[in-house]
Amino acid sequence: MTRISLALATAGLMGATLAHAGEVEVLHWWTSGGEAKAASALKATMQSKGHTWKDFAVAGGGGDSAMTVLKSRVVSGNAPAAAQIKGPSIQEWAREGVLANMDDVAKAEHWDSLLPKAIADGLKYQGHYVAAPVNVHRVNWLWTNPEAFKKAGAKVPTTWDEFFTAADALKKAGLIAVAHGGQNWQDFTTFETVALGVGGAEFYKKALVHLDPASLKSPTMEKVLTTFKKIKDYTDKNAPGRDWNLATAMVIKGEAGMQFMGDWAKGEFLAAGKVPGKDFGCVAAPGTAKSYTYNVDSFALFKLKDPANQKAQQDLAAAIMSTDFQEVFNLNKGSIPVRLNMKLDKFDECAKTSAADFVSTSKAGSLVPSIAHGMAVPSAAEGAIKDVVSQFWNDDKATPAATMDKLVAAAKTKS
Ligand code: GAL
Repeated sequence: MTRISLALATAGLMGATLAHAGEVEVLHWWTSGGEAKAASALKATMQSKGHTWKDFAVAGGGGDSAMTVLKSRVVSGNAPAAAQIKGPSIQEWAREGVLANMDDVAKAEHWDSLLPKAIADGLKYQGHYVAAPVNVHRVNWLWTNPEAFKKAGAKVPTTWDEFFTAADALKKAGLIAVAHGGQNWQDFTTFETVALGVGGAEFYKKALVHLDPASLKSPTMEKVLTTFKKIKDYTDKNAPGRDWNLATAMVIKGEAGMQFMGDWAKGEFLAAGKVPGKDFGCVAAPGTAKSYTYNVDSFALFKLKDPANQKAQQDLAAAIMSTDFQEVFNLNKGSIPVRLNMKLDKFDECAKTSAADFVSTSKAGSLVPSIAHGMAVPSAAEGAIKDVVSQFWNDDKATPAATMDKLVAAAKTKS
């Protein structure tokens, strides 16, 4: 082939790709070390298909700021192609009529047989797929620094009594026992973990999923609140407002011994070059080894007008569920693939435990949705309940009795 014809052929090929190339604007809040690495895997996947990636990152763990920004964009008729939206909020957005039907992609890629049914159902509105899932995060973890434990002569706890014994020892050794960030989603991440550990999965479901008033105001809830508040004594005075990844950094550096956080924290440890089992430990939070709080990240797809962008959006949805993407993304994010039957050879022990426990707790009925991470209840009630719990955490005069009354009232919040 002559140089000119090669050039023409290349131009032709490029033209063919470009004719289909579109732009995907993707809203997410993955801006910490591990999160950003995972997000860039998605960007690279889309770019390899010839599409343009328009990053719409809104910083803020847990996504509260991202959701506020999203609302104003959609209201002004300028929705992104995809946005990180999870749980019941997917249904809330779908009801507004702004989400696109992804059934063609889902059918071509066999999503119905590749996803656990309960998760697939949450991604559908009136039987049609409107969102694509990327992972399963386990929330009820306790992250530990083995060096700090050694220094304190403490044992990694499996019960709440052991937890407070270890926390006392860490404190005595001059360390911060619990790294915490005082933001309401982080307060609630700890709270729901305590609720699961102290009350068990049945109590958790009744109180925090079905919002049963008799469970929200009960001796068990009182014990949950008291245990939760006791943890505050083991946090430091700079906790208020601290970002979760900075709390994780305290455990990474050995300034703190433990952190309650979902396994996106593992993404931070890994991004810092730390090795699980050696430099840090992952253990189910006290009393929760046989239960599992899940948090599935997913992207809701918004209706678009431009056909090239629609094609790019469909490619995004298909790519998200591909084995290659599920592997590389989750290795960085700290989570496990949501796609069933994937090989986990490249994953570490924390991920393998998570995958095994996901299956066993699902069979045992102790797999529960995370309310802190938007998986369990409508967003209005979730927000109101979170506020009550954070007020209790922050106000040393607040009593469990008054807080339980407030929880019952908050659970009734409609919108
Ligand atoms: C969660 C989200 C995770 C992680 C975390 C901290 O709600 O599901 O993917 O990003 O917030 O930002």
